[in-house]
Amino acid sequence: MPAANVSLFNIHLLGIVANVVWSTFLQSWLRALSFRRSIKKKKKEREKKKIMTNMVGQSPQNGKGAGRTLIIGSNGFIGRFITEACLLSGRSTYLLNRCRSSSLISKAPITKSFQDMGATIVYGSIKDQDLLEKVIRENKIEFVISAVGGEGIMDQIPLIRAIKAVGTVKRFLPSEFGHDIDRSDPVEPGLTMYKEKRQVRRFVEETGIPYTYICCNSVAAWPYYNNTHPADVHPPLDEIQIYGDGTVKAYFVAGSDIGKFTMKAMDDDRTLNKTVHFRPPKNLLNMNELASLWEDTIGSRLPRVTVTEDDLLDAAKEMRIPESIVAAFTHEIFIKRCQINFSMDKPTDIDVCSLYPDLPFRPLDECFKDFLTKIVGTPKIVTSTKPVGSNNGIMVPSVKEGALIMTA
Ligand SMILES: NC(=O)c1ccc[n+]([C@@H]2O[C@H](COP(=O)([O-])OP(=O)(O)OC[C@H]3O[C@@H](n4cnc5c(N)ncnc54)[C@H](OP(=O)(O)O)[C@@H]3O)[C@@H](O)[C@H]2O)c1
Repeated sequence: MPAANVSLFNIHLLGIVANVVWSTFLQSWLRALSFRRSIKKKKKEREKKKIMTNMVGQSPQNGKGAGRTLIIGSNGFIGRFITEACLLSGRSTYLLNRCRSSSLISKAPITKSFQDMGATIVYGSIKDQDLLEKVIRENKIEFVISAVGGEGIMDQIPLIRAIKAVGTVKRFLPSEFGHDIDRSDPVEPGLTMYKEKRQVRRFVEETGIPYTYICCNSVAAWPYYNNTHPADVHPPLDEIQIYGDGTVKAYFVAGSDIGKFTMKAMDDDRTLNKTVHFRPPKNLLNMNELASLWEDTIGSRLPRVTVTEDDLLDAAKEMRIPESIVAAFTHEIFIKRCQINFSMDKPTDIDVCSLYPDLPFRPLDECFKDFLTKIVGTPKIVTSTKPVGSNNGIMVPSVKEGALIMTA
């Protein structure tokens, strides 16, 4: 073979060898990559499964058994107070969390903190009767507390059916945590929510399951008429709005006390099939007194403006949900006196203070000091003002976004 042909042949051979080496390298690199990916995927799946199946038998509390309690709505505004108190009381605590990606992500830190305190998480919906029956039966649940928000009141019906079907729950606390809804008649859109809560009460009574209704009145915080979660927002720093003439009183109960006294009442024989009213005398204040207390706390006087009955009714009529519901309740409390216009004269009424006379409630000045501490620690405390509605002329401090759902 001529020399030129030999070298051409060698070059060709070299090319083939290089190609083979390169494609072998490429294939093994791709295999390694896909292996790493599949390991990662499996790890992710295992983690997901771990979250989703962290149900029975994995809580540090399992086995203790005392007062096994299932809470629905533990990540909500009121639910958080209840759950914390339940865990602090040492009960075996099971939390039914919705398996929604938005909740899983945004509420993960709250869920994690409850898990760290010993809670067992069960994923599912309050509407899934079969699941609830299984959870109640398998975990020998004795107490069920629902703290679902206003949009989920009727969703409690399958839960009640599940409790009835299993038949071993000692006490059910439906989502109440506000006013005595059989005695209060707010304007719309608040009334629709109260009608639903009444339907739930009647259904509970019909089924014959043991229950307690918690009427804790207002949460100790500033009662903004357009904010459902008042304890998440500090009291005003620019001007104080007084509802009506500011003389109608209401009860303001610290969130931690709502949790603490709910736990006490829940397995107290004296509260079986009763309505428990939270009426701590020292926490009964009107808007004028509330304003003075806040001014004393911050050490300065603020301008006061009147929000009339008509202003509140206009805000309710706007039918902005949930703000208008809160306006309806604010009207019900500070104009129609719904927290104080009845005496506890039904055989089913119990005042929580008469049950536990030695247990103190947190005074409101302490709760206000907590707000001040938070404000001082916050770099920006400016509250801008924005008009509510187009022509009612009410100016309100802007409130924290995402803090609006439902109220008492
Ligand atoms: N006294 C007062 O001043 C006051 C103030 C506010 C509320 N309340 C009352 O307290 C009760 C609770 O209201 P809230 O404002 O605390 O509620 P919220 O903040 O809206 O929280 C509701 C909770 O229920 C959960 N939930 C809703 N539907 C569910 C379902 N189908 N399955 C499982 N979980 C479900 C939610 O889950 P996600 O986390 O997935 O959303 C959330 O954790 C209501 O009866 C309300 O009227 C009283």
